[in-house]
Amino acid sequence: MPQVTDRIGGRGDKKRLPGHKEEDARPRTDGARADEFQPKILIFACNWCSYAGADLAGVSRVQMPPDCQVVRVMCSGRVEPELVISALCRGMDGVLVLGCHPGECHYTQGNYYARRRALLLKELLPYVGIEPERFQLKWVSASEGGKFAEVVQEMVEGVRRLGPVGAEWG
Ligand code: FES
Repeated sequence: MPQVTDRIGGRGDKKRLPGHKEEDARPRTDGARADEFQPKILIFACNWCSYAGADLAGVSRVQMPPDCQVVRVMCSGRVEPELVISALCRGMDGVLVLGCHPGECHYTQGNYYARRRALLLKELLPYVGIEPERFQLKWVSASEGGKFAEVVQEMVEGVRRLGPVGAEWG
């Protein structure tokens, strides 16, 4: 099981999206102002499709938001709901799980399990005081570098509208 605590860093964490270099993140061209809230997003990416998609986005030098960290997992079905909640409770503003398209999971049904869990998790999150929009599950294949960038950007914009996680907790 991946250890979230090993992967989450502060805003100064130097981990980057695969294929991206430090200078790729700056200057900002994603429309965000320098003084605007920059959400920290944790991305669990399936090794076989979505991580390769992230790599393709990096190799294609697609501009990405700076505060996104990718954790490579073997399958989207490996991401337990506890990991998502743990990440959100430890300071990530949003969690994005990316997997192979339905019918293309390398372990046959992993992404179907992930989809079922995602529905339950979205129901559960309000009970722990977290907006369900802070968690998303999407499908990105190895050839969809552009889609990877779009999905991440959509996530960042959605979470930016919500503000920092836990702001309402006092
Ligand atoms: S191997 Fe990619 S979602 Fe299962």
